[in-house]
Amino acid sequence: MEKKLVVAIDGPAGAGKSTIAKLAAEELGYIYIDTGAMYRSVAWKFLQEKQVFSPELVGRLAAEMEITFKPEAKLNRVFVDGTEVTEAIRTPEVTEIVSKVSAVGEVREAMVAQQRRMGEAGGVVMDGRDIGTVVFPQADLKIFLTASAEERASRRHKEMLAKGMQVDLQQLQTDIEARDKQDCEREIAPLCCAEDAIYLDTSSMSILEVTAKILHLVREH
Ligand code: CDP
Repeated sequence: MEKKLVVAIDGPAGAGKSTIAKLAAEELGYIYIDTGAMYRSVAWKFLQEKQVFSPELVGRLAAEMEITFKPEAKLNRVFVDGTEVTEAIRTPEVTEIVSKVSAVGEVREAMVAQQRRMGEAGGVVMDGRDIGTVVFPQADLKIFLTASAEERASRRHKEMLAKGMQVDLQQLQTDIEARDKQDCEREIAPLCCAEDAIYLDTSSMSILEVTAKILHLVREH
């Protein structure tokens, strides 16, 4: 029987990780886990509380909440304690605060523990910022996906327009760069390319090209 791998895909905002990881997982018959959606869920839960931000508060919320995924053909539905948050975790309010929430040690501990449980049996494609470095340092295959900030902002802009959301492209690029900076400079589990990861600059590659490349790497393994 074919060995079921752990495939880690990391990279900055808007590099196409979630679209590509989902497509690759479907093709391989693997589970897809969007760890960004988990940190977004914690940020959403915090906003629901309408309280002043504190590391203690978000840490406690993260430890107590249950996050579940329900994969469907076009989207990966996300639930927090049984409430669907698939759309709610993508709002600008959540995006604005998520990096602050994800920098809290207790939040990361709670999420990483769940992520390890979800992936321990293999047969999983997990995307995020620290999968190859912290969550699964022994992953069978590690990919670091990136693209220029202009290209990433432009991709996110198209995605948002398609959803009927009006955003200024320049502002989007500024926000993405600010979030990248926060994610790269935080003390715990900063976004960086693992030494043994395959670095893919996708600036001039299509989604299908990148997915095919990843599938090839998995099959070659
Ligand atoms: O989809 P997008 O690229 O906008 O971001 P995301 O993957 O949904 O992740 C949202 C945020 O969660 C990131 O900016 C990080 O602050 C945090 N995150 C993290 O710290 N570690 C991960 N493994 C995944 C996401």
